[in-house]
Amino acid sequence: MPTSFPPGFVWGAATAAYQVEGAVHEDGRTPSIWDTFCRTPGKVLNGDTGDTATDHYHRRAEDVRLMSELGLGAYRFSVSWPRVQPTGKGAASRSGLDFYRRLVDDLLAHGIKPVLTLYHWDLPQELETAGGWPARDTAHRFADYAELVARALGDRVDSWATLNEPWCSAFLGYAAGIHAPGRTDDAAALRAAHHLNLAHGLGARALRATLPRGARIAVVLNPNAVRARTTSPGDLDAQRRIDALSTRIFTGPMLRGAYPADLIADTAGITDWSFVHDGDTSVIKHPLDWLGINYYAPSVVSATTDNHPSPAPSPYPGAQSVTFHQPPGPRTAMDWTVDPTGLHDLLMRFTHEAPGLPLAVSENGAAYDDTVDARGAVRDPDRIAYLHGHFDAVLRALGDGADVWGYFVWSLMDNFEWAYGYSKRFGIVYVDYSTLARTPKASAGWYRDVIRAGRVLPVPTG
Ligand code: FCB
Repeated sequence: MPTSFPPGFVWGAATAAYQVEGAVHEDGRTPSIWDTFCRTPGKVLNGDTGDTATDHYHRRAEDVRLMSELGLGAYRFSVSWPRVQPTGKGAASRSGLDFYRRLVDDLLAHGIKPVLTLYHWDLPQELETAGGWPARDTAHRFADYAELVARALGDRVDSWATLNEPWCSAFLGYAAGIHAPGRTDDAAALRAAHHLNLAHGLGARALRATLPRGARIAVVLNPNAVRARTTSPGDLDAQRRIDALSTRIFTGPMLRGAYPADLIADTAGITDWSFVHDGDTSVIKHPLDWLGINYYAPSVVSATTDNHPSPAPSPYPGAQSVTFHQPPGPRTAMDWTVDPTGLHDLLMRFTHEAPGLPLAVSENGAAYDDTVDARGAVRDPDRIAYLHGHFDAVLRALGDGADVWGYFVWSLMDNFEWAYGYSKRFGIVYVDYSTLARTPKASAGWYRDVIRAGRVLPVPTG
């Protein structure tokens, strides 16, 4: 295993528009599905909303300075669709785009590489009202939006991702209903997954046609590091089903140009897949320049042995025969198991499945119940230990032949954690939500030192 990261390895941090920007009513922005969802009673913890979030929209310059002090080489952010194209169609909002122009200019002035994600879950509400992702037209609307952003920022951003974690958009949003828009309709969720795939393909095509040569186009997925509890045929079949419904439903068409036959068979009782039109999968298989992998924790599954499946709507349509188990090991404040071997497994999986395709760890990190001590410091040794383990996993994958160009910690700062509101702190920078003051946590200082050294440093003791 190498002891240091290759020269040129990119160290960054990630955020997403709705989780940090705030300013939801400014400069002509219209509501997204998350503004609506937050206002639906019982959907988001404590009734929290992204109205102010961390006020990044107004504190952009200060935040970029902070990134520079931390020595970050890159910043992965997302563009808010309803901010730059308020009705989800037609002309761009000049002032909306100006925010991102200024952000990118500030980043470049500090030598920080902008990595832009077009869609991190904030669909314009008007498009949801017109049918949302289960409607095919939304994919075409996305391609128009992609072109409009590429025209505005293509001269200064060279790393682009179409979608962030389409699995969450489709299945948490339309099957489990725990993310916006909060629908619980398995057939609609599978249609949504296909239209997200199509949006990716059409969007990538629009980006390629609009961006200067040399632009690097990607998609960011959250492939599931799913393990079978035992090697019994039933448990292995449970693993296969969940792998199809969480990962291969995207990588099948994107990397190979076809939906997996087992996925179509498994879901035959829900849909006949007639929403996949001739030619769609070749659009979806648009050549990629890199693939973003978001990883937090593995899953463990078995065949269901009792006859009492959970009454809550599941994000896995048709997989009532599968039971999820808590994997062994320490847990974060999300109750997610800390297990860096899942990251190594995924990096090696895509090294083998997509030879020659450069990979990035586009999100990885952990929430803990951080507090500010009497001296104003935030000590977060658990987060440092989490990052340490995952950096080691990346190094190990590099040694095993994976082509990983960068790592983005989730997140630069504490922010709006979707249905958990502000209760979960993922940042390496602490945000005091009453003053919006930013305080780098101990992990931020440790990360800065790792970046400087280019190798994994020991976890500080004491
Ligand atoms: C990922 C999301 C990101 C953040 C982290 C914790 O699924 O992409 O916005 O919420 O989880």
